[in-house]
Amino acid sequence: MATRQFPRLVLFGLVLAGIGALWRRRQHPHLPCPSSLSFLLENPFMNRIAGAELLLDRAHVTAGMRILDVGCGPGRITLPAARRVGATGEVVALDIQQAMLQRVQKKISAQGVTNVRLLHAGAGDGKTDANTFDRAFLVTVLGEIPDKVAALREIYRALKPGGILSITEVFPDPDFQTPAAIRAIADEVGFIPHNRIGTFPAFTLNLSKPVTSRIEVQPT
Ligand SMILES: C[S@@+](CC[C@H](N)C(=O)[O-])C[C@H]1O[C@@H](n2cnc3c(N)ncnc32)[C@H](O)[C@@H]1O
Repeated sequence: MATRQFPRLVLFGLVLAGIGALWRRRQHPHLPCPSSLSFLLENPFMNRIAGAELLLDRAHVTAGMRILDVGCGPGRITLPAARRVGATGEVVALDIQQAMLQRVQKKISAQGVTNVRLLHAGAGDGKTDANTFDRAFLVTVLGEIPDKVAALREIYRALKPGGILSITEVFPDPDFQTPAAIRAIADEVGFIPHNRIGTFPAFTLNLSKPVTSRIEVQPT
């Protein structure tokens, strides 16, 4: 009896820990999600509603592409993206927290991946190359970024003309952003809405950088 109840107790404990962690984060907006909470990202629930392959499909990622994974966290999207783009493509995994990048590095080493470059930076710091990427991802990250306009400006600059920024938000992320809030910032930066896929509890908004840009890309 006690043995049968053990998995349920563990699950109950994990749910409680998750709720507690989310509540604490709600009290401290704009703080980056600590690497100790990676289990909130890498679990069957997230895989089902916002799994890496699904998000790569939604952004039409194919072999040979160059991908910018902004706020890569533990590399949930980074590693599958690297496999999908293959040897002729590349993934740049950017995160403000060294601890997250260390998690990605461990996976890179364990899996023998050679087409991922780690970039320790904040989104908006201007550390990325201009006109370089076919796709950029912001998956449950935007709400944690204090200067969202600066972050989207950098991503706009980093994308090739015609490139796509794929933003995914998941409920009940305490930093959840609505489609309307994202569109307002995207419009200010110069992105064009491409399409929206999914609704509740997760949606993806794809935004494209126009081929003929109305905003000049300044060298940094
Ligand atoms: C909730 S996690 C999402 C991780 C990953 N995108 C995923 O879906 O599994 C948010 C990540 O964004 C990073 N982050 C937060 N603010 C950032 C900023 N200003 N610049 C770059 N990364 C940031 C955090 O360090 C954290 O790794």
